[in-house]
Amino acid sequence: MTDLATFAAGLPKAELHVHIEGTLEPELMFELARRNGVTIPFASVDEVRAAYSFTRLQDFLDIYYRGADVLRTEADFRDLAIAYFDRAAADNVRHAEIFFDPQTHTDRGIPFDTVMAGLLAGMADAEARHGLSSRLILCFLRHLDEEAAFATLKAAEPWIDRIAAVGLDSSEVGNPPAKFERVFGAAALLGLGRVAHAGEEGPPEYVRDALDVLLVDRIDHGNRALEDPVLVTRLAREAITLTVCPLSNLKLCVVDSVDAHPIARMLRAGLRATINSDDPAYFGGYVNDNFAAIADTGMLSRADLITLARNSFLGAFLDDEAITGHLAALDSYVDTQR
Ligand code: HPA
Ligand code: ZN
Repeated sequence: MTDLATFAAGLPKAELHVHIEGTLEPELMFELARRNGVTIPFASVDEVRAAYSFTRLQDFLDIYYRGADVLRTEADFRDLAIAYFDRAAADNVRHAEIFFDPQTHTDRGIPFDTVMAGLLAGMADAEARHGLSSRLILCFLRHLDEEAAFATLKAAEPWIDRIAAVGLDSSEVGNPPAKFERVFGAAALLGLGRVAHAGEEGPPEYVRDALDVLLVDRIDHGNRALEDPVLVTRLAREAITLTVCPLSNLKLCVVDSVDAHPIARMLRAGLRATINSDDPAYFGGYVNDNFAAIADTGMLSRADLITLARNSFLGAFLDDEAITGHLAALDSYVDTQR
């Protein structure tokens, strides 16, 4: 590892964009398949990894939803979450806001409550063993309709005080933010935060509409916002957090190479960008692998890396006191590295 990557690895950080179903490593996929008597279309872990070759978002989504089929019981969701949190803690993640896709599970007959109980057990374990705090973000699958999203929000109501926000993921192009205006409005009335994937493959208008129609607190990805200078100025002025995922962008061909990644341009434009892993089991790396890939390009300074970690706390669904505490820990780390 380069000096910059080592420095970045040690930074206390928050992860704000990780799909818990996307942390399912092939080894655990096989173990859960065996435990639950589920057949998977792969003969070995190597065969699974070899299948992870994508040219666009939809290639990935097809295989990602199939992989999730091994998740059946509360213990499965707990073990999935524990495996992610253990890995995140090793990367000095102090706070994680994890997406989950309830419709991927309820559509297979897995009760919403099973998913919630398992994830919450994993979150309690992370707090107890690593002091790692976490929040849940319930994502609506945007390829499904508004009615299905409303049914999911209804199923979530008994758990509403354990959910920080709603999000929007899955196939972006052709499923604009406006499709979910009413359900995001209903979520807001329930006191939930709001985030949405926008500008990963979709146009800058989807980023603007996520802000204006869904009233989001953060934009997930946001890469294509850079095509619209007026939008960039607005995102900077309003200090909207962008949860950027470099290795995901590389694997899904959103960028041609890590060297071509716009993270440096985002920071120079004054955008509140953060670094995240998205679906680490599928895209070849956890949050520090993403920091290392970007650090190794040489396009960022030490100060930029500190800014990225700082932004991750500033953009979190945490109260001011918690944020202040994390920023103080970040400053202490930096002081030890001088
Ligand atoms: N984009 C959209 N939907 C997703 C992603 C992503 O990167 N990961 C999991 N679901
Ligand atoms: Zn994502």
